[in-house]
Amino acid sequence: MDKLIIEGGVPLNGTISVSGSKNAALPILFASILLDSPFSFLNVPHLQDITTTIRLLRLLGVSCENEDHVVQTEPGHLVPEAPYDLVRTMRASVLCLGPLLTRLGRARVSLPGGCAIGARPVDQHLKGFEQMGARFDLEGGDIVGRCSSLRGAHIVFDMPTVGGTENLLMAAVLAQGTTILENAAREPEVVDLANFLCACGAKIQGQGTGMITIEGVSSLEGETYTIMPDRIEAGTFLAAAGITGGKLLVQNCPFAELETVINTLEQLGMDIRQTDEGVLAECGKAGLHGTDVKTQPYPGFPTDMQAQIMAMMCIAKSSSIVDERIFENRFMHVPELIRMGAQIKISGHTAMIRGVEHLIGAQVMASDLRASASLVLAGLAAHGTTHVRRIYHLDRGYERIEKKLNAVGARIIRAEQ
Ligand code: EPZ
Repeated sequence: MDKLIIEGGVPLNGTISVSGSKNAALPILFASILLDSPFSFLNVPHLQDITTTIRLLRLLGVSCENEDHVVQTEPGHLVPEAPYDLVRTMRASVLCLGPLLTRLGRARVSLPGGCAIGARPVDQHLKGFEQMGARFDLEGGDIVGRCSSLRGAHIVFDMPTVGGTENLLMAAVLAQGTTILENAAREPEVVDLANFLCACGAKIQGQGTGMITIEGVSSLEGETYTIMPDRIEAGTFLAAAGITGGKLLVQNCPFAELETVINTLEQLGMDIRQTDEGVLAECGKAGLHGTDVKTQPYPGFPTDMQAQIMAMMCIAKSSSIVDERIFENRFMHVPELIRMGAQIKISGHTAMIRGVEHLIGAQVMASDLRASASLVLAGLAAHGTTHVRRIYHLDRGYERIEKKLNAVGARIIRAEQ
């Protein structure tokens, strides 16, 4: 297992570029199961979760080649079984359910367990599929789904669910008749999936709103599609400029999709503006001061940026409150930040942060993807040296992060743990 050794206290300066979106690439790659033609996916990030997805697609019968941010797929003889040892390493594997059910009428997928941030149930996914005519049995920890054929339904989600919306969207595009997804997730990654499916002949309207309507078609094919940039990686880089008191030009930064994040960074005291070359982000002259954040479904403040913003709040001149409303256990970074001198108190799903003069480097442990990013940001700002252990969490969602940050002045070494 690797760790990152970070010498803190260096303001970052320079140009940094954003890779393709992990959370758009994952559902879009699973949607390759729906295609009757070979396909090339461009701007695919080089991440552990993408490697896992490609391994799973090959097991399911889709042939995949992955070379230099391009993934080429070819339809093959589909085998509708997603094994536990892959699913347990990546919960997003459950996104193969919709494509397999609508193409083959059956699917066996290991029930994804919880993870560090919460129980992560998939009841909304299953309820939607059942409304479309599927039935499920639980056999030895696997969800076994069967249906003669999926038919359109009017599905109302109990809460906006990104994965649930994506799974049902992929099922509906080849189902018979019309499907309506109400209280659907509005995240840009859901829109990117819908846009990809439309580029292959799907009939979808309303993506990006809470009401998506899909007319089933008989087949889907296309040639190529470019994955959108990763708004969470981009937000993490904007935060890195703020927490280190530096100035970064972030290229391929999806500005419009980061509106609430940018508003919050400006409330914290950052100056952020769009230029022809990218988004210019720097800490204001007055330094960072506290603000309050509540995570919500898009277009609200994204839960995937909560840990990163909290790291900034730790060194703000005044206090902040973070209200985590999406996941029940997404404060795993807090005890590690406290080890670095942060003053944070948790009460239920609320964290109160009192800013301190500076953080102090320490040995800390990553617990999940975005908590890892928070600890890297804290290490960049801290006085002294920080060792971030278990960074396999980080490698799931950030492409070569230490190379990208070192290119703008960071002092990070990857070492054996
Ligand atoms: C997606 O997870 C993202 N993952 C997560 O990013 C992100 O944090 C999350 O959406 C919220 O934006 C991918 O896109 C691969 P949800 P997902 O279904 O789809 C509850 C990262 O760091 N719920 O929108 O699993 C659920 O418990 C990852 O990149 C049910 O109760 O999230 C949660 O409280 C972490 N039943 C809420 O809904 C269900 O059937 C939102 O979950 C489904 C969800």
